[in-house]
Amino acid sequence: MAVIPGDGIGKEVTPWAQQALEKAAGDAASFTYENFDLGAERYLRDGQILPEEDLAAIKQTDAILLGAVGDPRIKAGILERGLLLRLRFELDQYVNLRPSKLYKGVTSPLANPGEIDFVVVREGTEGLYCGSGGAVRRDTPEEVATEVSINTAYGAERVVRYAFDLAMKRRKHVTLVHKKNVLVNAGDMWQRIVDRVAQEYPEVTHDYCHIDAATIYLVSDPQRFDVILTDNLFGDILTDEAGAVVGGVGYSASGCINAKDEYPSMFEPIHGSAPDIAGKNIANPTAAILSAAMLLRHLGFDEQADRIDAAVEADIAELGSTQRSTDEVGRDILARL
Ligand code: IPM
Ligand code: MN
Repeated sequence: MAVIPGDGIGKEVTPWAQQALEKAAGDAASFTYENFDLGAERYLRDGQILPEEDLAAIKQTDAILLGAVGDPRIKAGILERGLLLRLRFELDQYVNLRPSKLYKGVTSPLANPGEIDFVVVREGTEGLYCGSGGAVRRDTPEEVATEVSINTAYGAERVVRYAFDLAMKRRKHVTLVHKKNVLVNAGDMWQRIVDRVAQEYPEVTHDYCHIDAATIYLVSDPQRFDVILTDNLFGDILTDEAGAVVGGVGYSASGCINAKDEYPSMFEPIHGSAPDIAGKNIANPTAAILSAAMLLRHLGFDEQADRIDAAVEADIAELGSTQRSTDEVGRDILARL
């Protein structure tokens, strides 16, 4: 396993995820861990973001446990593009998997949330995230800046197939979210690929929602969703909203997955490094621990992953509303494993 605690609260929550992983795995698997010193501290110390030898070593692992990256002392984009997105791209993690579940014991900001349990399958390597674009006449009144959204049929089809496979294991419903009334080229391509792939999954129903409408449904009728399939940027925005709807990003885990297993997949809480609360031992390690469960499931240790999920569920049901430190939550969850 590669472990990249990263910055801020990433350093506080990742050790708990690692311990939960270790304890849940028990005798079923014996992991060895390699820690990577990557993130803001490293960059400020020696200017390195993701050295080639680190990338090569990470490529040799079976999976990556990541905390969070980001630091207000560093200009926006440097670590995000140079570390996090570089890993997603180099390791071809084309499925960004983000489940949202409202646990018993968690208060949703919605008045009548009902049962919320859906998964966002966000494309992870294309769209506006590619880094295609540039600026000319920078810092002049005539400045021009472009960000080009790259969408390939190959890139869309593989994530569409993943979404339909996943739906078969769930409530068998896929919702494509895009903006095909305006983004007529990419949106139309996504829709045609969905329609074509859907023919191979007669048991799975599918529908379509514009991104702006989807942000409404997520708060007005979240129960309508089972598997939400969407592109990189829409998925980024929608999953933050999804995190809020299920009571805050402290409960939201994610996986950046190379579903062909050519490279390791990476598991991380969807929250960031939260510099405002870093070092105070108050960050909730639950999302990081749930990421460890996703990691186990990805490697085929379903039973062990279920144990973490059950421990977290029981912990939240009983103690979710109490004020606890990072270490207390970590210890409480571990005690149930
Ligand atoms: C996320 C984050 C990243 C993203 C940033 C930090 C690059 O917001 O994982 O959702 O936009 O994908
Ligand atoms: Mn995001």
